Amino acid sequence: MTSGSELALNGGPKTKTTPFGTGKRFGTEELQQLREALEQNTLFYWSGRKVKQFCADFAQMYDVPHCVATSSGTASLHVAVAALGIGAGDEVITSPITDMGSLIGILFQGAIPVFADVDPHTYNMDPTSIEARITPRTRALMVVHLAGNLATWMPLWLLPRNII
Ligand SMILES: Cc1ncc(COP(=O)(O)O)c(C=O)c1O
Repeated sequence: MTSGSELALNGGPKTKTTPFGTGKRFGTEELQQLREALEQNTLFYWSGRKVKQFCADFAQMYDVPHCVATSSGTASLHVAVAALGIGAGDEVITSPITDMGSLIGILFQGAIPVFADVDPHTYNMDPTSIEARITPRTRALMVVHLAGNLATWMPLWLLPRNII
């Protein structure tokens, strides 16, 4: 909205002039993938080829040596924390407003979640608070972009390099 213009609510011009999508989330391509998965006659990833192919394609797309498929966000965060070698007594700074899944992997590894304060306008972690919670035991920072609000990245780049 340009400064000084009237809100659409009050008769001003609409910001969005094109229609939203249909809301339909899956189409023929997804149905084809689903059919191929079911036609393998197994949902165990090791017996079929779909998940292995997905991991290979994903790793190639991002030019990385490994890709691990997981069944949930919780499991993926746990894999990430474990893969980084985070263990007993290590501290991971994260947000106090998040899903349980952000914490489960940290706790399962015997590490300690440390909560940074959040910005009252975005509910994302306040970089100043993050810095205040860094200790010699801090191993990682798990950033949560809450409800589509991008967390502030710029100051995070200034954090010490030994924090993941
Ligand atoms: C920030 C965050 N972390 C972790 C999770 C856990 O994901 P899942 O429910 O797929 O295990 C969620 C789920 O909403 C999430 O919003």
